[in-house]
Amino acid sequence: TLVDKGRHRHFMAKEIHEQPSAVGRVLARYIGADRSRVVSPAEAVDWSAASRVLLIGCGTASFAAHVAKYWFEQLAGIPCELDIASEFRYREAPLDGREVAIFVSQSGETADTLAALRHVAGRVAATLGIVNVTESSIAREVDTVLPILAGPEIGVASTKAFTCMLATLATTAILAGRVRRRLDAAREAALLGEMLSLPRLMAETLRLETEIAEAAAEIAPARDVLYLGRGRLFPIALEGALKLKEISYIHAEGYASGELKHGPIALIDDGVPVVVTAPSEPLFSKTVSNMQEVLARGARVVLLTDAAGAEAAGSEASIRIVLPNIGPEMAPILYSLPVQLLAYHAALARGTDVDQPRNLAKSVTVE
Ligand code: G6P
Repeated sequence: TLVDKGRHRHFMAKEIHEQPSAVGRVLARYIGADRSRVVSPAEAVDWSAASRVLLIGCGTASFAAHVAKYWFEQLAGIPCELDIASEFRYREAPLDGREVAIFVSQSGETADTLAALRHVAGRVAATLGIVNVTESSIAREVDTVLPILAGPEIGVASTKAFTCMLATLATTAILAGRVRRRLDAAREAALLGEMLSLPRLMAETLRLETEIAEAAAEIAPARDVLYLGRGRLFPIALEGALKLKEISYIHAEGYASGELKHGPIALIDDGVPVVVTAPSEPLFSKTVSNMQEVLARGARVVLLTDAAGAEAAGSEASIRIVLPNIGPEMAPILYSLPVQLLAYHAALARGTDVDQPRNLAKSVTVE
């Protein structure tokens, strides 16, 4: 192929390590030269008139859409609906014609996502495509394309496309917030300032790889692994669990932390690893209670947090990985990296085919 693995053992490893520069490209594309204002083809959308945002995708792209739901609601005050494409195309959702429908897809060819786009075309105010492959069907058929600029992604398990989708969606939500007068110029500049620090913080996080690999060695023998997160980190827990099952074949489930008591706690017994993605935030003490509940039942907790979180958690975590500080809005982008590395190293420890996992395809062009 035209793309090689360079110094890496797998495309997945190479693509994980490309993320600081890939996300940097997204920022250079969608943030203006003054570094304080979004500049994007999404300015063509009439965000003020939008009744709702519909966010649609499959697999990892659907988790990027899930994070974007928090951004569009909190930063732009627009009600959002999040749908798996294969559900949306058949569920006969009532439309009022004023929706902005956003389709998220690395390949731009996923059959269900394309069918969902064709289902709404002409029946909503605008369609937007968040895609990597700009020559794809979805890119051609949406009203407005926002390329995620990840470059070719070869590993079947999506990594850099995910964080590039997130960065592209974040700038879009910030733009919508400005247009809808939810964000003033100072707040927009502050959020973009946080985003502009991401390449550096992502590079710092990747330097924790040895530590993360040690945590992965503890996960690798497990039969079941639980991932927990709340708010914007909930979709990162879902994505962490998906990555692990895709490439290591370990059964993993992602749950909203607050939902622990409504089922998943029944799975906890001696030695079950629980990965908690939790930067310090006002609800962090609730996360500490969740950790106490699973530890009391014999679980081993792998806590992904920041320095203040590690301090607050005290000895309530068996393994703590301390990430750089980042504001709450952009934390999901940074916390994507350690869950990717955990899955990658767990798969290495299991000896599975990381770049070509069984039964999976890079792009699913049939229903
Ligand atoms: C397949 C791939 C996943 C991907 C999903 C959606 O299942 O294995 O990695 O997230 O399709 O693909 P898309 O190209 O639409 O983002």
